[in-house]
Amino acid sequence: MAMDIEKILSTLTIDEKISLLSGDGDWHTSNCNGKVPAIMMTDGPHGLRKVESEKVGDITGSNPATCFPTASAVACSWDPEVAKKMANAIANEAKREKVSIVLGCGTNIKRSPLCGRNFEYFSEDPFLTGKMAASYIKEVQNEGVGTSLKHFAANSQETRRMTSNSQVDERALREIYLPAFEEAVKEGKPATVMCSYNRTNGEFGSRNKHLLTDILRNEWGFDGAVVSDWGATNDVVKCYRNGLTLEMPDCKGYHKKVLKKAYEAGEISDEELNTWAGNVLRCFSTLSEKAPECKPFSFEDHETIAREIEDECAVLLKNDNVLPIEKEKKLIIIGDMAVNMRFQGGGSSHINPTHKPNAVRAFEEEGFFVKHLKGYLSEIDTIDEKTENSAIELLKENYEKGNTKVLFFMGLTDSYEGEGYDRKNINLPFNQIHLLRKVSELVDKKDLAAITFGGAPMDFDFEEKVGAVLHMYLGGQAVDKAVVDLVSGKVNPSGKLAETMPYSVSDTPAYRYFGLDNDDVEYRESIFVGYRYYETFNVPVKYPFGYGLSYTDFEYSDLKVKDSYENGELTVSFKVKNIGNVAGKEVAELYVINPKENFIRSAIELKGFKKVYLNPGEEKEVEIKLSERSFSVFDVSKNKFTVIEGEYEIAVGGNIKDLPLRKKISIKGEKYFRDEEKLFPDYFKENKRGMEISKEQFEGLYGRKLGNDKDRKRGDYTICCSFDDVTRKSLFGLIIRGVVSLVIKLMFKGKPKNSPEMKMVRMGLFEGNLEGLISVSGGAISPKLANMLVYNANRKYFKAIKTIFEK
Ligand code: BGC
Repeated sequence: MAMDIEKILSTLTIDEKISLLSGDGDWHTSNCNGKVPAIMMTDGPHGLRKVESEKVGDITGSNPATCFPTASAVACSWDPEVAKKMANAIANEAKREKVSIVLGCGTNIKRSPLCGRNFEYFSEDPFLTGKMAASYIKEVQNEGVGTSLKHFAANSQETRRMTSNSQVDERALREIYLPAFEEAVKEGKPATVMCSYNRTNGEFGSRNKHLLTDILRNEWGFDGAVVSDWGATNDVVKCYRNGLTLEMPDCKGYHKKVLKKAYEAGEISDEELNTWAGNVLRCFSTLSEKAPECKPFSFEDHETIAREIEDECAVLLKNDNVLPIEKEKKLIIIGDMAVNMRFQGGGSSHINPTHKPNAVRAFEEEGFFVKHLKGYLSEIDTIDEKTENSAIELLKENYEKGNTKVLFFMGLTDSYEGEGYDRKNINLPFNQIHLLRKVSELVDKKDLAAITFGGAPMDFDFEEKVGAVLHMYLGGQAVDKAVVDLVSGKVNPSGKLAETMPYSVSDTPAYRYFGLDNDDVEYRESIFVGYRYYETFNVPVKYPFGYGLSYTDFEYSDLKVKDSYENGELTVSFKVKNIGNVAGKEVAELYVINPKENFIRSAIELKGFKKVYLNPGEEKEVEIKLSERSFSVFDVSKNKFTVIEGEYEIAVGGNIKDLPLRKKISIKGEKYFRDEEKLFPDYFKENKRGMEISKEQFEGLYGRKLGNDKDRKRGDYTICCSFDDVTRKSLFGLIIRGVVSLVIKLMFKGKPKNSPEMKMVRMGLFEGNLEGLISVSGGAISPKLANMLVYNANRKYFKAIKTIFEK
């Protein structure tokens, strides 16, 4: 029965209507004293994190659920059907747990490989990201469960995530950071969109009218709810006015008081309040009516699904005839990571898995004869001599050239990447690299393969020491079995990189402007993110975008491009043939090579892809449809995407560096003239290699002056500044800072210094903005304390004292 919203509103008091606008506790919407149905939402995205007890920092105590591969792995399948399969299983687990909204999926673009949360995001490319996200959302919602597309938008780093200001020019915003959200909104129709913590071009995600109203609702036609990231709201009246629907979590009653005061002062009209409360009823309470029954399933079935998904995602980066390995061979497995496997990331997406993977056990179960040597300890970076020496001794005793295969398990550990903190470099732990060097001196390369783990690019320089590299990403709880499937050849690897693996962090486009000790972040690389930068500016990379090997080979032929659009679509077809001896899947990738222009434009862009299964000798025709968007740029002066006329080239193949099929095509469209040579001079240089854009040049492109938080003076501090910044500025602040540090130390007593939970809580508190911390610090930062800290930082001591006595 449809809910009569007008009727319900007429029964609610002002306080009840206000209470609808914030959550009730951490995960529920308000039930208005039992008058309306409340719903529950939980994280997401690669499994369910349903927390029964609402405890701050409690990221491990959720109900058991299947942990699927994280988004950075799933994207490497290059198959929206894989995202769909995972979404279906997660939705069913959500139904069993009576959860109405799964908070996902993460759809931010990987601006830099260093972002600590990259494992939760799909790709550096908006086209691929959009297709995966839309498929995930559609399927969760087909099953009757809502989703929350996050984090909208330009949320590219964890450093200062609650106060940072992404200063990004409008074209980069529209062509890089927003299209995946656009695709996900238009195709997937998510029930909710989660706004990000950060500011974009000066305004916080929760009250950014340009993003929430002008673009999301008016341009893209989104009519669902915008929910705040947890603690992302400040200046709430402005938030609701600019497009926010629901604040999460409940802000410990503080914002209710602010709203009530504003209502009583006549700053909020009854009409406005009814609209806002009505939106919550329409978007959330109705979900509780829709939720269908869950289909019977077992966790074992879901683990099989997780395994099948990971089988499609792992990327074979190197193979000099080392893999696959026959069962008859003796197997030596080296590395702590083979038993204490890394299969998910830390933070709000941390799942309490129903099974803990162990590759040694999985190989044994499959009939392999295995010797495991621990070699290093995952929780530290330094060499544990006893562990290392004993591994080397046993290796000497057990390794028999040609008759033994050695698998070296390695990768980024939990303290390297996780929610709330970024990396500074792409290094691997020293103890692992040290041991690998020693192992490679003893073992023939033809017998040695590295099995790698991590949610983001790492330094693959070690590759020279091994004969094969199989990259598992963060492969979910069945990653152990997937390793066996792929190493044994039971499954032929078919994943391809959804991001570029650079040689070094200094080669990456944003590295000078990423994760700095400054709220104001400059996106000087503009549209040149990921491969768009490496390809346009001729920067060599370790492994290119779209790269991945197989145990077979594929041949491309017969490219046909229709020479005119039909109904806004341009059809491209070609053939792919399996020319090897085993069956396999190939991801065929289609790129558009753009004409050289008098304005900046990426040399090449991904515009289509298709994964095909082929038996040995089999050939299939693949058809991909291009649209006007495939040849468009965002014309800032017209505020719309425009097809640019010119000579383009369609290029098809197995990765961005290997595109054997090419066809030139002349596209009719608009002429576009923007003399950007002065704004982006490096782009126009012949034989360019890398780029350097000055502040002034970028300001020209950005169209306004760049902010710099270092210019902040006394008097400029507000409740929206970070705890870290504000507490440095007064004696009172320094004392509170000391107390908070001590409490954190006590909370994590006995845990290693670099434990990801401690890092997340510490960064969360210190880098949280004060108003947000009222919601998410578990009461540690009260509204009074927040205001007193701000007054002290601004040297308004009298006001600070007065605050103590205010109600
Ligand atoms: C994260 C979100 C998450 C939310 C609830 C936030 O800190 O940024 O992705 O959904 O917490 O756990």
